[in-house]
Amino acid sequence: MLGQLLRLWILSKLIVQYAYTTTSCYFFVSKTPVLTDIDNQILWHPYSSTKAPGPLWQVVGADGVYIELADGRKLIDGMSSWWCMIHGYNHPVLNEAAKNQIDQFSHVMFGGLTHEPAVRLAEKLVEITPEGLNKVFFSDSGSVSVEVAMKMALQYWQAVGNTRKTKFVSLRRGYHGDTWGAMSVCDPDRGMHHLFKGMLADQLFVDSPPCKFEASCSDSDIADLQQLLNDRGSEIAALILEPIAQNAGGMHFYSPDYLRRARQLCDQHDVLLIADEIATGFGRTGKLFGCEWAEISPDIICLGKSLTGGYLTLAATLCTDKVSDGICGADPGVFMHGPTYMANPLACAVANASLELLLNQDWQSSINAIETGLVKGLSAASEMVAVKEVRVLGAIGVIELHKPIDQAELQPKFVEQGVWVRPFGSVVYLMPPYIINSEELSRLCQATLTVVADL
Ligand SMILES: Cc1ncc(COP(=O)(O)O)c(C=O)c1O
Repeated sequence: MLGQLLRLWILSKLIVQYAYTTTSCYFFVSKTPVLTDIDNQILWHPYSSTKAPGPLWQVVGADGVYIELADGRKLIDGMSSWWCMIHGYNHPVLNEAAKNQIDQFSHVMFGGLTHEPAVRLAEKLVEITPEGLNKVFFSDSGSVSVEVAMKMALQYWQAVGNTRKTKFVSLRRGYHGDTWGAMSVCDPDRGMHHLFKGMLADQLFVDSPPCKFEASCSDSDIADLQQLLNDRGSEIAALILEPIAQNAGGMHFYSPDYLRRARQLCDQHDVLLIADEIATGFGRTGKLFGCEWAEISPDIICLGKSLTGGYLTLAATLCTDKVSDGICGADPGVFMHGPTYMANPLACAVANASLELLLNQDWQSSINAIETGLVKGLSAASEMVAVKEVRVLGAIGVIELHKPIDQAELQPKFVEQGVWVRPFGSVVYLMPPYIINSEELSRLCQATLTVVADL
């Protein structure tokens, strides 16, 4: 009897152990998904607390515009997984590109070696980005591509003998990533500067462009940038900005005219212009790149996010010959950066497939259709008490509220409505995959309105 009990006890232990180590079996043990419990014990999620983790849902699949949860629910993704999954999940063309490449080789170092996926991708990026961006430097994430851009600007001025130019100017509301240099050019009040006061490089900031997307830019709208460049241009290496749409800083769309004038001011004061197109690139605003709205070329551009259609992490920093020749024309004659996973062949192969997919279809019509659907689907929100403004640009729809939201409280309400929408600050926004159809978009908008109406 005792032996039988012992065997039973061991068996039950083994079942529990198995349930903990697999994702499929936890329902036999508890109604609470064990995986999320383990997650809560040991994992840190973006911008989160380990002591008071927010609500969490386990994903078991994703296909097209749908994210499938462990409990069987399928949510329409309104976020494109933080704006990168432009062709939707589980795309056969991107799957095939990844599989083909993995069967050849998944990675080789980029020092002294090269490969077709990287060369083809670099050629394509030079072809499609604004005029003059002829040199491509690959790295592993958006933030790192910003670090690379900043280093390029600094090394350029050092190389051409202008050692006083060590500062960056950035726009308030700007967001350029979470690494050290990138953080220093994020909005100084809404970013993380207060946490790292005195530790980050001391940069210069001007107001977020007050002129809205549809408006022109008056002299007063750009007066502070003009003044700063007048006063301190000799110390400034570069102006860094997100062209047209400041996304993580509150989904603010500003006038192309401002961007045009900022480019002119940079030229007048011998300041480089860095366009951070990590969020705006590859069609999101209705042009392939945000800079195209103003018909300008920056000296340096940063690309990431949807570069691989959301499959793998990859980023690129492109610069003009002036910048690369400057850097390489003086001691030490090389650009001092080189990540381990630089130009990862797997990521480059998928990026090539993603770009082909995007450019071989009428992507502009898809974005226009999403824009029309977002206007139609969200405009009723402007009548709601909690809402300050509704605005749409390309495949970005924004409902700005009067007050900041409580993300932990709001997120489950979207899930209950069958959509994945993750608001922040005082904005509820939608950035769906480009493949979303009109019926799915209308359901996404309707669900969003239902949640916002309750605020
Ligand atoms: C404009 C911009 N720059 C940089 C980044 C940082 O990119 P990553 O998260 O890939 O490091 C982001 C991310 O949201 C971004 O929106």
